[in-house]
Amino acid sequence: MIVNAQTEAALKGIEATFIKIISECVELETVSITDKAAKSLISEAMLYSLNAGGKRIRPMLLLEMAKAYGDINDGVVAFAAAIEMIHTYSLIHDDLPCMDDDDLRRGKPTSHIVFGEDIAVLAGDSLLNLASEVMLETVLKNCGNNNYMYAMREILKASGSNGMILGQVADIKYHETDIDVATLDFINFNKTGRLLTASIVAGAFLGGADNNEIALLREIGRDIGQLFQIVDDVLDVVGDTEKLGKRTQIDTKNNKKTYPNLLGLDGTYQAIQTLQSELDSKIALLSIESSFLKSLVIFLVNREY
Ligand code: IPE
Ligand code: IPE
Ligand code: MG
Ligand code: MG
Ligand code: MG
Repeated sequence: MIVNAQTEAALKGIEATFIKIISECVELETVSITDKAAKSLISEAMLYSLNAGGKRIRPMLLLEMAKAYGDINDGVVAFAAAIEMIHTYSLIHDDLPCMDDDDLRRGKPTSHIVFGEDIAVLAGDSLLNLASEVMLETVLKNCGNNNYMYAMREILKASGSNGMILGQVADIKYHETDIDVATLDFINFNKTGRLLTASIVAGAFLGGADNNEIALLREIGRDIGQLFQIVDDVLDVVGDTEKLGKRTQIDTKNNKKTYPNLLGLDGTYQAIQTLQSELDSKIALLSIESSFLKSLVIFLVNREY
C-alpha cells in the first residue's frame, strides 16, 4: 500500500505508543504490591492482543485521511491508536467461546486461551474504555477545535449498539435462519463497515474535510467495509492459516451465512469486481490526492492475509 512518510512513522511507533499509554493509564510504578499484580495482569492482557501484529488498516486509514485533508499531529496519532484499541477489543470478544470460539488470532493463541475467559472479557472492556479516555484527553488538549469532537462522536457511534455491536448481534442471531444477500449486507456493513467508515470519516474530520467530502467518504467507507468482509469470508474458505494468522473454516463450523455460502465462489468474485469498480469511480470524485485509497482497494481485492 502507498502510505505517506508520516503515516509510516506513526504506524511503526504504534506498539511503543500502546505500551506508553497503557503503562501511564495503570500507573504501574506508583502502586502498592497488592495493586501491582492486578494492574500488571490487565495491562499485560491488553498489550498482548494489541501488539500481536495485525494489518493496522484502521489507524492507517485515519492517518492517511487526516494527512490528505490537513496534517498529522500528536492528536491524530492518539485517535489512530484509539481506533486500533477498539478494533482489538472487538477481536478479543469476537473470538470468545460464546461467540466465534476461535483459538488463533494474529498468529498467536487468542486472549482467552492465554489469560482465561474472565480476563479476556475484561481486557476487551478495558481497551474500549481506554480508547474513550485517550480520545477525550485529546479533545481537552485541543479545546476549541470541534473537529476532535466530531471525530470522537463518529468513532463511538460507529462502534456502539447502533453500529459494530448491532452487526455482531445480527451476525450471532441471523445465522440460525436462512438469510438473503440484503440481510447479509446489513450484517457486514454494521459489524465491519461501520468502524472502517469511522476510521476514514474521523480522519477526514481531523484533517478539516468539508461536508460534501464527508458524505462521499461515507459511501466509500460502506463499500470498503463490504469489500473487506466479503474477502474475509472468502479467505475463511480458501485462505491459508499460516498467512492469515487465524483459523480457516470457522464460518462453516459456526454455520455462518456468507457471500461464498449464498452466491458460491464465482458469484462472490463477481461481487468483489463490482465493488472494486464502484469504489474506483467514487474515489475518482474526491478532491484529494487518492493514491493511498486506490492502492488500498487493490490490496483488499488481492489480499491473502
Ligand atoms: C478482522 O479484521 C476482523 C474483521 C473485521 C473481518 P482485520 O483483518 O483488519 O484484522 P487484523 O487487525 O489485521 O488482525
Ligand atoms: C468480525 O468478523 C467482525 C468484528 C470483530 C466486529 P469475523 O468474525 O468474520 O472476523 P474474523 O474472521 O474472526 O477475523
Ligand atoms: Mg465473528
Ligand atoms: Mg470471528
Ligand atoms: Mg471472518
